[in-house]
Amino acid sequence: MNSAIPSVALIGPGAIGTTIAAALHEVGRTPALCGRTPLEKLTLRVDGKDIDVPGPVLTDPQQSTRTYDLIFVATKATQVAAMAPWLAALSHEKTVVCALQNGVEQKAAFAPYLSGKELLPSVVWFPAQRESNELVWLRASPRLTVPDTAAAGVVLAALAGTRVAVDAAQDFTSVAWRKLLQNAVGGLMVLANRRAGMYARDDITALALAYLRECLAVARAEGARLSDDVPQEIVDGYHRAPPDLGSSILADRQAGRPLEWDCRNGVVQRRGRAHGIPTPISDVLLPLLAAGSDGPG
Ligand SMILES: NC(=O)c1ccc[n+]([C@@H]2O[C@H](COP(=O)([O-])OP(=O)(O)OC[C@H]3O[C@@H](n4cnc5c(N)ncnc54)[C@H](OP(=O)(O)O)[C@@H]3O)[C@@H](O)[C@H]2O)c1
Repeated sequence: MNSAIPSVALIGPGAIGTTIAAALHEVGRTPALCGRTPLEKLTLRVDGKDIDVPGPVLTDPQQSTRTYDLIFVATKATQVAAMAPWLAALSHEKTVVCALQNGVEQKAAFAPYLSGKELLPSVVWFPAQRESNELVWLRASPRLTVPDTAAAGVVLAALAGTRVAVDAAQDFTSVAWRKLLQNAVGGLMVLANRRAGMYARDDITALALAYLRECLAVARAEGARLSDDVPQEIVDGYHRAPPDLGSSILADRQAGRPLEWDCRNGVVQRRGRAHGIPTPISDVLLPLLAAGSDGPG
């Protein structure tokens, strides 16, 4: 094996995890697969063809017999504490841990589990849809952004020559908040129980723009450099999207699973309060998202 290519383990072989695993497998770098549900293989459907990634998906950290240079974590943000025993089992001193998760608080969320090591956050730019436990439909070209740090080099090396494009951003804060705004307004899909087609309505467009302006004020207070045009650009993106394009938070709601409402929406209210910025729209949305996450009864 080429020693310049890092060894990789992937924790959380769901929609995003299967995409990364398949991209690595295609170029002969099949990662170790660690999850919660035992599976013999994963399948990624992309451009009308299926890529099978051989398993097994290990489900007990005690089953692991070695450590890895790079660990991708693609569980939901709500699953970090439950996943954490894998990190100790799979890490050596120099292992880079990269979170493939939404949100802008990944470093703080992982800090209790990394013994002082710094997490590499990322922005995941592609939609992937879970059709069943083993089958994921990749709906756009996969792309990640990571902060331009030394640890980013390990991710760039691991994914070089695969179908996943990776950018290293100097101003990662602005990129991460840009994506956070996109995710935050995607939360409206949960409350309407609709996919992207709902943004064609004038009243939803107006609500989305007002909410995005609220999020933008908080993002700027957090140091993101984003222009006044960003809310309109994000809404335009939803207008252009296929009407049946969902969101992982909508998929979770429809499956009755806990929602990532706190890292995608709650953060705007929390950080807004810290900066003394009023968040009247968040104040209405959040209790509804939180209650939906607790459901069904
Ligand atoms: N899907 C998208 O299009 C998309 C796009 C951009 C960003 N994201 C973000 O990417 C992250 C991952 O989302 P996703 O849609 O890929 O989620 P997902 O399909 O639900 O995948 C999560 C995976 O983690 C596994 N898991 C759960 N608990 C675990 C544990 N304790 N130990 C090990 N594995 C565990 C799940 O196993 P089970 O099979 O047992 O549930 C599943 O394989 C989220 O933060 C999401 O917001 C998603």
